[in-house]
Amino acid sequence: MSREYNVGVLGASGAVGREVLNCLEERGFPWASVKALASSRSAGSRLEFAGGEITVEEVTPDSFKDLDLAIFSAGASTSREYAPIAARSGCPVIDNSSCWRMDERVPLVVPEVNARVLARHRGIIANPNCSTIQMLVALKPIYDAVGIRRIVVATYQAVSGTGQKAIEELAEQTRQIFNCQEPTRSVYPHRIAFNCLPHIDVFTDNGYSKEEMKMVNETRKIFGDDSIKISATCVRVPVFYGHSEAVWIETARHIDAGAARELMSRAPGLLVVDDPDNNKYPLATDAAGRDEVFVGRIRADISCDNGLTMWVVADNLRKGAAGNAVEIAELLVRDPELLKTDWVW
Ligand code: A2P
Repeated sequence: MSREYNVGVLGASGAVGREVLNCLEERGFPWASVKALASSRSAGSRLEFAGGEITVEEVTPDSFKDLDLAIFSAGASTSREYAPIAARSGCPVIDNSSCWRMDERVPLVVPEVNARVLARHRGIIANPNCSTIQMLVALKPIYDAVGIRRIVVATYQAVSGTGQKAIEELAEQTRQIFNCQEPTRSVYPHRIAFNCLPHIDVFTDNGYSKEEMKMVNETRKIFGDDSIKISATCVRVPVFYGHSEAVWIETARHIDAGAARELMSRAPGLLVVDDPDNNKYPLATDAAGRDEVFVGRIRADISCDNGLTMWVVADNLRKGAAGNAVEIAELLVRDPELLKTDWVW
């Protein structure tokens, strides 16, 4: 009989954590047990899983001793504290926070793009930022075929990327506005209902937001190419699930839109939806609940030689977070060498 694994999900009560549970179940991950971990705030609450319920436990340094692997989605400070503890306990961590992504000891993995770097992991593996993951799944076949010199991207990001409270804030503000009430806010600095906020994460010294700089730095690390020039504008939009991106690239060698579309249609994890004459292009509403990345509106960029532009959409909680993390977990359990337990942190 093939082996089954004891899996921990830290942040199980949150928006991404719940989706991790869904992905483990729907993708048929070989789990023997699933331990739901969170803070004392939600300890004791029950979550649906695999036709039954599991009880959330408060995370402690001992939580990882009986686990084969864990997926963390509980924010950077929790990851900073607990990922090394888990790794030292012999429980490799796939971390959804930004805490470890740029650490040289930590592979930053999108399975369709750079699964090979998993071999170098030392107990902590980082899941990239949601916007970066979907963009790179779409660009990988072009990068491999003709190289990419420059990327310009504008994102249209769903509120679920901020977490459960932001989902509730958009719903509540929408209800308030329809009832002629003043919308209340606590998560975002401005009303998000019927609005667009060009502000995701904090602003940095160069005028870009941290989210925008994550797209720059993480793209370079995942492609292993510091020469790519990247500029991003990240915008929060009043959509519950699914990030959309307008992407402009300048390739190193020429490729026409038809050849690019053909390459993308054969790439793993990527679905081309590109028939504008029949109103067919990727939509957040169609991507929600799906594990694939969707690309369409693929066309030559008329402002630039060797330029292409496209529209890329994915469910930010699935491929952008939980789905990518569970795919990494699937790669780990497929290769016993990757589940060695002698890590020093
Ligand atoms: P809790 O429900 O106990 O607050 P979201 O991104 O949707 O806001 O979810 C964040 C997740 O991270 C929740 O499951 C939350 O648990 C968990 N979390 C946040 N802070 C901590 C912490 N200090 N220790 C453990 N879990 C935490």
